[in-house]
Amino acid sequence: MRSIKRSISHQQSQLGEKLPTILKICQKINAERDLAALLSLIAREATRLMEADRSSIFLLDREKLELWSIVTLNGEQIRFDARLGITGAAAMTAQTINVEDAYEDPRFYKKIDARTGYRTRSMLIVPLRNHEGEVIGTFQVLNKKDGAFTIDDEEILQALATHVANAIETAQLVEELKLHREQLLEENTQLWKEVEGRFSTQNILGTSPQIQSVVRLIEEVSDSSVNVLITGESGTGKELVAKAIHYNSSRARNPFVALNCAAVPESLMESELFGIEKGVATGVERRIGKFEEANGGTLFLDEIGDLSLGAQAKILRVLQERVIEHVGGRKEISADVRILAATNKDLDAEIKKGNFRKDLYYRLKVVLIEMPPLREIPEDIPLLANYFLNKHSQEMKKEPKKLSPGALRCLMNYAWPGNVRELENEMKRLVVLTTRRVITEEDLSEVIRNINNKKTLLGLMPTRSLKDAVEELEKHLIQEALERCRENQRQTAKALGLSRWGLIKKMKRYGIK
Ligand SMILES: Nc1ncnc2c1ncn2[C@@H]1O[C@H](COP(=O)(O)OP(=O)(O)O)[C@@H](O)[C@H]1O
Ligand SMILES: [Mg+2]
Repeated sequence: MRSIKRSISHQQSQLGEKLPTILKICQKINAERDLAALLSLIAREATRLMEADRSSIFLLDREKLELWSIVTLNGEQIRFDARLGITGAAAMTAQTINVEDAYEDPRFYKKIDARTGYRTRSMLIVPLRNHEGEVIGTFQVLNKKDGAFTIDDEEILQALATHVANAIETAQLVEELKLHREQLLEENTQLWKEVEGRFSTQNILGTSPQIQSVVRLIEEVSDSSVNVLITGESGTGKELVAKAIHYNSSRARNPFVALNCAAVPESLMESELFGIEKGVATGVERRIGKFEEANGGTLFLDEIGDLSLGAQAKILRVLQERVIEHVGGRKEISADVRILAATNKDLDAEIKKGNFRKDLYYRLKVVLIEMPPLREIPEDIPLLANYFLNKHSQEMKKEPKKLSPGALRCLMNYAWPGNVRELENEMKRLVVLTTRRVITEEDLSEVIRNINNKKTLLGLMPTRSLKDAVEELEKHLIQEALERCRENQRQTAKALGLSRWGLIKKMKRYGIK
């Protein structure tokens, strides 16, 4: 089947002539970056070099077990079963096949000629292999001008095939990397959106004028880099506000670094803030400090009222000169850091007592945000309570719960010394402990219930007439009993020592539904 016509001397001179062309092709190959352009260049040159009529490159689709044309000289797209034809045989056996007359070969797949209208005569096909030696496609030349392809042609085509396979593999790798990079970028954007969403001002809940003005202030100060002092009792949302300021600012994608000043012993504060140089004598490793860590971003100094006077002086210097110096270091490093500070102490009083520097105080409170204690904004309690109830039910995969009107009344009357944090903890506790769907007064923590009982009774006594107070108390007791008995009138009447009709009459009088 394979016809080899050659004389050795003729052969050598032929190769010698072709060598410069091959070198030129190789140079072009190295210069060409676009895969499609590169492959058609190689195909064109192969055709010319081997005096063929045309050439094509097929890739093997391993999943579908099909060969598809990545390059054909007249641009037609071909796809066929990889187990068919002489091309298929070269791909499946990973062997070079050289055929003088295709129509004489039983493996020949005539349908392609029938479809394209081309008349195939001689064929030379070499497999394309990746660096692991797996076949990834074929490279073939068709119809040598006068007769059959030679052994030289085989060698030339094999050499070119290595380049083709390399180029394809590299391009596929680059493509994969690009895709991977795009996926990572997409993921990253998604994550940033999530982070920014989590800390947006929309998550600072409250319709009270106090909370609304805090939200407005955050939006106003976010985009400048002014220092902000946030004051308020523990649990009022100071850290929440600090994060909202950072993630709403142009510094959002740079670090938010928090330092709890109350938690760091005085002796370590300096190295914590400014870092430490590697100590040759002491064996201390070099460590960067919070200022450097927050460079370009925001440093949140929590509980700043607990800072020692020595540390206050050092921070003041950074704020004045915008440079930092490592402990044990001589070099100064410039720092672009926005400072947000928070405290639950009355800094004016601390200044009077000589515990806090006045100059630092004024540097920190360019803008002052005062968080109201929860007891001053009882109108926000239902919103917050329901929000936390839902949030924790969802997190713990429990069915949603509701607060009875009596339970809500209790929550609104309680003084909440631990503020929003305490309210959140109470709701978390209720999600864990109550099995019923409606949460009533009895489900609440004892302190919250007790305060209410005393408060309502005490609240009734001094200002009203005895008759009013008794009526108020009666109404309250009926409401409570109704809730306890889940609105069952017969049981409620029994619990209160009334007839059912007596209960209904009283409910009407007090407007209880
Ligand atoms: N207005 C608010 N809306 C929603 N959640 C709040 C609000 N205020 C506080 N919280 C939540 O209460 C908890 C305590 O807030 P935090 O910022 O740590 O208080 P602080 O720093 O003042 O002690 C956090 O879980 C916070 O998300
Ligand atoms: Mg805090």
